[in-house]
Amino acid sequence: MSPAPTPSTSQLPMAKDFSSFLSLEGAARKKSPLKSLLPLMHGDMISLGGGLPHPSTFPFHSLSAQITGMRPQDAQQQQKAKEPHTKASDLVTVPLAPQPDKVESLTASLQYGVGTGIKSLRDFCREHVRSMHRPQYQDWDIILSAGNTDAFSKTVGLLCNRGDKVFVEEWTYPTALETLDPLGVGHIPIEMDGEGMTATGLRRVLDNWGSTPEQANEPKPRVVYLIPTGQNPTGATMSIQRRMDILSVAQDHDLILIEDDPYYYLQFQASDANSYVPSLLSMDTDGRVIRLDTFSKTLAPGCRVGYMSMNARFCDIMQYHNEVTIQQPSGFSQAILAEMLVSHWGQEGYRRYLTENVRTEYLKRSQFLQTQLKTRINPKFASFIEPSAGMFIWIKIHLDQHPRYGTAKDSVLMLDLFRKCVENNVLMVPGWQFSCKPKPTDLDPADVLNCWFDEDATYLRATFAYASFEQMEEASIRFGHALDQIFAA
Ligand SMILES: Cc1ncc(COP(=O)(O)O)c(C=O)c1O
Repeated sequence: MSPAPTPSTSQLPMAKDFSSFLSLEGAARKKSPLKSLLPLMHGDMISLGGGLPHPSTFPFHSLSAQITGMRPQDAQQQQKAKEPHTKASDLVTVPLAPQPDKVESLTASLQYGVGTGIKSLRDFCREHVRSMHRPQYQDWDIILSAGNTDAFSKTVGLLCNRGDKVFVEEWTYPTALETLDPLGVGHIPIEMDGEGMTATGLRRVLDNWGSTPEQANEPKPRVVYLIPTGQNPTGATMSIQRRMDILSVAQDHDLILIEDDPYYYLQFQASDANSYVPSLLSMDTDGRVIRLDTFSKTLAPGCRVGYMSMNARFCDIMQYHNEVTIQQPSGFSQAILAEMLVSHWGQEGYRRYLTENVRTEYLKRSQFLQTQLKTRINPKFASFIEPSAGMFIWIKIHLDQHPRYGTAKDSVLMLDLFRKCVENNVLMVPGWQFSCKPKPTDLDPADVLNCWFDEDATYLRATFAYASFEQMEEASIRFGHALDQIFAA
């Protein structure tokens, strides 16, 4: 399932010109003249220019972290360790001043810089994208972000004007909608199946665009937001064929695809770097995919570091946006990640960490919670599709088995169940929180014990990511009781 072998870069096409997709905001972003002075500061140049604080005023003399060892010698040491699960550990240190054997120094990484992120970390991420995704056009590039939340909101700024609409999966990540709503950018849900957004659903809506009175004067939306792997909340992962079909709709209707993919490296079948389902970026020959990656699920969310891959023109504008917002991710995070990834783990160590540590942990957890749920709940009352990636199980409640089914609204029965779960001390996220339908004004969404809307939201989202194994077992027992109590009512 590895991406097709890449022809040499010079044989690849150049990205198409997507300038006409830029929003007013995106088109107006320009290179900062102030930041443009920075590249001139090399060699013998004496700068009396930029307002850079003097490093002697930085109260940080070095930065160290004890990290999981992923070098070949660490693996050998781990095998020899008496305790089989002891993780090999390694000390990484970033010194204050540059040193020949170090990739970063605090004087550089804690200083102001350009909006792309520091070079060593950006180069590492670019090489990771190149080797894992092998983009099929020449002029792609990456830029660091403060994670996918930051990257998505900047992508919306790049492409969407107030009044525009974005295609989204019928159940989607609420933060994405909460990003769009206040900007006056609407969303159009597209049907999903066990593999996520359907290409047929997307094509149908686009082929028939303009056929309803509301759409008569509305331009065809040109942006699709997708979570193709371990989708949040449904856990669905698109097959290769589905990805190709979605891309083909995007080519036929000239769309930009935003590939928000935090769970890509949590594919349970991916026992080595060649067995991941190829990303949309890896199939894109036009430069129409904006891929958002984050270290949140592979290293730690508090790092607040991610990277976005896209055509170079869009990448430049993202850099200008970074320069007037976050400038770049935190220097502490970047410095320690660079030292760990570039000097200690290397590309190979990071890939091994992804498959051997991150993937195996979530695989184990996923299998455990699935087994617990299967043995502790009555299959007549609830079921789920086994996720093949990510962190989530999307539990469908079979309300048609409820004694009051048909006489009480589904939303009333679901709210009863949710309250019963809380009473039994087990918490899951109500399905309506991922709904794309407009929230009724007479309900307060923050009043979660009294709110349930969308008659189709007969789901609860559970995660196996965080609770201990004992807690997952106990939670499954409690959920089973809550279901029994509600369905006996
Ligand atoms: C689909 C999706 N996108 C983005 C994020 C947030 O990512 P980050 O921590 O990089 O901002 C999440 C986290 O839950 C997510 O599920």
